[in-house]
Amino acid sequence: MDRRRFLTAGAAAGAGYALSISQQAEALEERMMQELEEGVIVRSRFCQFGTPQADIVAARAEASERNQGRHFQMGHDPRLPRIPDKPTLIDFFKYRFAPASHLLQSGALALKAGLDEETVLACLLHDIGVFALSRSEHGYWGAALIEPYVSERVSWAVRYHQALRFYPDLASGYEYPEAYIRYFGADYKPEPHIQKDAEYAQNHRWYMTARQICINDIYSFDPDANPSLELFVDIIGRHFKQPEEGLGFDNTPVSHQWRTLIWPTNFL
Ligand SMILES: [Fe+2]
Ligand SMILES: [Fe+2]
Repeated sequence: MDRRRFLTAGAAAGAGYALSISQQAEALEERMMQELEEGVIVRSRFCQFGTPQADIVAARAEASERNQGRHFQMGHDPRLPRIPDKPTLIDFFKYRFAPASHLLQSGALALKAGLDEETVLACLLHDIGVFALSRSEHGYWGAALIEPYVSERVSWAVRYHQALRFYPDLASGYEYPEAYIRYFGADYKPEPHIQKDAEYAQNHRWYMTARQICINDIYSFDPDANPSLELFVDIIGRHFKQPEEGLGFDNTPVSHQWRTLIWPTNFL
């Protein structure tokens, strides 16, 4: 909405009854909010994968008719909670990932087991890739997202838990998850890159950090458990290097990924 055009139109319309400046400003704000609500909301391309091409074409034609004269969504999506301008990791937990019970449960179990703070953080963040970007390859996505802000060991463990969870380690108390037999079938074999990465991780000095993620992971699906984020505020403060400008605005190789989480439905 062009503010000057609106105010000129308001003044002309108000020839018979004068609108005060604050009334005009209020009316403008209301109109702008209304327009935002009416913006064409878009979805990520991810959401279309697997949809038959004919359905996509039909949906586009229908949308293009419906959207005549409307703007596309850019900026803050009115359907999402408004995230602060300089967002912290805690803000992303509150305004984007919530309730994130699985992550909080994993972190809480690690805390209860008396594991070191970096391992607790690794457990808390282990599936951040699922919450933020994609289930597919989530360990690698998640590790990349946090890499500039945590120790090398934490992001390493988040990356390799993805491969290690398919391989039992009975000595550490990790069995092949029974749920995976239900989910993927009894003869499911991980892809070669996963087999290779698991082998590499098994011989690495940080193996146990990634393995601890797997161990706490499988007990973190209790629908009644709801640990508080407060439990982790100090650990995050000590081990996650929060950028002053806010995540997304600190010019790292992954700032754009955090910005995508701030504005996930921007048209471009
Ligand atoms: Fe995972
Ligand atoms: Fe998990």
